[in-house]
Amino acid sequence: VTGRAIGGYFELELPDSKTNLYPQARRFQSARASFLALLRAGNPKRVWMPRFICDAMLAPLRSAGIEIGYYAIDAHLEIVDDVSLAKDEWLFYVNYFGVSAGNVDKVLSRFDPAQVVLDHSQAFFAAPRQCLATIYSARKFFGVPDGGLLITELPIAEPHEIDDGSLGRSTHLLKRLLGAPEPGYPDYQRAEQSLEDFEPRQMSPLTARILGAVDIDAARMKRNANFIFLHERLGGSNEFHIDLSRVDGPLCYPFFTLNSNIRQALIRQRIFVATYWPDVMVLVEENSTEAGFARNIIPLPCDQRYNQADMQAIVDLCSILLSK
Ligand SMILES: Cc1ncc(COP(=O)(O)O)c(C=O)c1O
Repeated sequence: VTGRAIGGYFELELPDSKTNLYPQARRFQSARASFLALLRAGNPKRVWMPRFICDAMLAPLRSAGIEIGYYAIDAHLEIVDDVSLAKDEWLFYVNYFGVSAGNVDKVLSRFDPAQVVLDHSQAFFAAPRQCLATIYSARKFFGVPDGGLLITELPIAEPHEIDDGSLGRSTHLLKRLLGAPEPGYPDYQRAEQSLEDFEPRQMSPLTARILGAVDIDAARMKRNANFIFLHERLGGSNEFHIDLSRVDGPLCYPFFTLNSNIRQALIRQRIFVATYWPDVMVLVEENSTEAGFARNIIPLPCDQRYNQADMQAIVDLCSILLSK
């Protein structure tokens, strides 16, 4: 008997699948896994990476035994080093916070796009560019357990295995629906830990189904509205320059302030802000631009869960903290 099952108990109720933003993408369990699949297919001699990067993206290079070259960035997150890219080398650049499309333009005009890998893990809504590859990570933008997307013209072997970890990575998503985020935090950490296995696998049907149910356009518009609201009120105190005309569906509002108490004070008030990225500190000098970003960029939430009243609460709290 091989027919489609009909009847019986229900699955979790979800909206119907919507249009897929990136139908051309290959789907893996994480951005890391996508990157490793790409590295195996292209086998570059060396990959030039920023030091301002999530350590997770260095792991696939180490695992594949590919040499890493590092370049420095400036206060605008642009590449400052004079990287001369040999024929068998790649350059990896991040669309930081989803606000760096202008920098991506410059990277693609400065280097041969056929050697450039773009990390859009923080820029889900930024369209893939004409280059070697563009990589996405779904769970930083939506309530999905995992998921990485890879868009490239390199022929990539489809992984045999289908990821079967997504069910175990879903408990924090359900717990947060019950109410407060704190009880699900250990589950979230466990889910993150399980993604440290980045042997490429196909995205699980569970993740694909939840991702398909997301109202992508609504999420994009809410992120834009929240971002603009924050920028209008906090932009004057933000040391990081933002080109609003190139912001579309950003990850967060990157608020750069030398007031070093703000991050912990926000967290104490249960406005949960991450640090991008603690591991940067082991790669850079104490007084480098990268260390400054890792220490002082506060990624304020502006995602689709929130409205103007939430943004106002963030602004009010920041204003009090900034005046101290
Ligand atoms: C810029 C960037 N790229 C890639 C990753 C890794 O994505 P994934 O966890 O889906 O492998 C992260 C963080 O996890 C990130 O911040």
